[in-house]
Amino acid sequence: MTKSAVLVTGGAGYVGSHACKALAKAGYVPVAYDNLETGFKDLVRWGPLELGDILDRARLREVIDRWKPIAAMHFAGLLSVADSVRQPVAYYRSNVSGSFELLDAMVEKGVGALVFSSSASVYGDPESSPIPESSPTVPVNPYGRSKLMIEQALADAEHAYGLKWLALRYFNASGADPDGETGECHDPETHLIPRALMAAGGEIAYLDLFGTTYPTKDGTCIRDYIHVADLADWHVAALTSLLAGEPSGAYNLGTGQGVSVAEVIAAVERITGRKVPVQYGPRREGDAISLVADSSRAVARFKVKPARSDLDTIVATAWNWYRQSRKL
Ligand code: UFG
Repeated sequence: MTKSAVLVTGGAGYVGSHACKALAKAGYVPVAYDNLETGFKDLVRWGPLELGDILDRARLREVIDRWKPIAAMHFAGLLSVADSVRQPVAYYRSNVSGSFELLDAMVEKGVGALVFSSSASVYGDPESSPIPESSPTVPVNPYGRSKLMIEQALADAEHAYGLKWLALRYFNASGADPDGETGECHDPETHLIPRALMAAGGEIAYLDLFGTTYPTKDGTCIRDYIHVADLADWHVAALTSLLAGEPSGAYNLGTGQGVSVAEVIAAVERITGRKVPVQYGPRREGDAISLVADSSRAVARFKVKPARSDLDTIVATAWNWYRQSRKL
């Protein structure tokens, strides 16, 4: 039997490349569509790479004509909360206009199912946690607003064109492929775990710790770290569910465990056996105090439980990838 193709925009990126691996394992041909501006050719290992920009509808149409995908997973876009505050137009162009180009091409070519990479940032700074999907969506930065706009447009597109969709709201994607075949490569790197590893590896002099006076267990921010390979499995399960005709909607993906920045640093020191030099600094603009998922709806529907998302596995796989990529 010929294998079905799935279009994966941003397939050369961090979450996208892990999703391609999981799709290939599940028997699909993941067609990575990426302009390689922030993605890496070397991370496209489980299917073809089609070079193209998410804003280029003609190119999207051409790629859809060539591969005739049964569905799409949409990861392409810009991802830094802080940058989105400084360059909102670039974020709306890439994340919102880019998604519209994809939607137009899909509707025109009859690709009827989409799994969308959304984010916990659609909730803004919620008053209580863990956060269920019924919490108010009041994003506090352009990045979060761009993701919410697309979720809303997807609901309209379903009404108008019958497009089926699932928006997966990730909390903190982290870790790396346990086989060491792909991992996180951002330039510049701003995320906590890779920055802590860079400090442990001597690549940067110290880790800036943004804020120690938050009303939390140890004064540092709380996040819900979810292993990227678990996220990838969840995407495949979401796709299977959509293709089986189950309903559209938005789902949280996290573990439900709140971990502080100080706890992450301690885990990095424990796993690497190295000291993480820290410089204590002021709070980072736009940071929520605590973001922890209530993912019970996703666990119940998709029958996937995070299996690699304990902090030690996250840090160990990220450290393995870090050492490999830096040849340490
Ligand atoms: N932090 C530091 N020092 C650093 C980097 C981060 O102290 O060098 C702190 C941050 O202040 C925050 C925590 O570590 O308290 C996590 O920060 P990250 O930058 O790793 O991740 P964010 O929580 O800011 O953002 C991530 C994704 C977003 C997503 C959000 C939802 O990058 O795309 O999670 O939870 F929207």
